Amino acid sequence: MDGVTVIDHPLVQHKLTIMRKKETSTGSFRRLLREISTLLCYEVTRDLELTTARIETPLEEIDAPVLEGKKLVFASILRAGNGLLEGMLELVPSARVSHIGVYRDHETLEAVEYFFKAPDSIDERLVIVVDPMLATGNSAIAAIDTLKARGATNIRFLCLLAAPEGIRSFRAHHPDVPVYTASIDRQLNEKGYIVPGLGDAGDRMYGTK
Ligand code: URA
Repeated sequence: MDGVTVIDHPLVQHKLTIMRKKETSTGSFRRLLREISTLLCYEVTRDLELTTARIETPLEEIDAPVLEGKKLVFASILRAGNGLLEGMLELVPSARVSHIGVYRDHETLEAVEYFFKAPDSIDERLVIVVDPMLATGNSAIAAIDTLKARGATNIRFLCLLAAPEGIRSFRAHHPDVPVYTASIDRQLNEKGYIVPGLGDAGDRMYGTK
């Protein structure tokens, strides 16, 4: 699919399979999510621009590669997005973090924002929006609407699983935002769950119902 990268690294796929199993415990699910998010982060940042900085090794001076531009922003869509943050911050400890709470009003279908925090100069940073599940796409679309309203222009969306319906809707609303996912599952069911999926990601990582 145009604008969608499926991260097919064998370790990602193996860990995802264990996460899907219904008997996987909350503790294992959380540990796997942390591990897999580090691998996903590696892939979503693979093409970041580099520049050089003059450094001195114990032997000589060189122009060595360093990341160009301002620090990245990882933007978590509450609450399940937080499960991806820990592993990503292990890999990019200096990243800034944004938290976004949004829901879609059932009657007006408008996105209602109940929480938003982001670092300054968001218009000058790459923002990687994270949420484990791209199901209907509604909350991801709303979160990115809200980031764009604050000036963000360079945005990527990272999830663990995506439904084809969610990808279509997301790409129709935000064709400029590439999607990275470990799997495109078959479909959404009548309750809006991704199938075969892994269930409710927030409940599985926090042990709630
Ligand atoms: N959110 C989840 O956590 N799981 C789904 O299957 C769909 C949305």
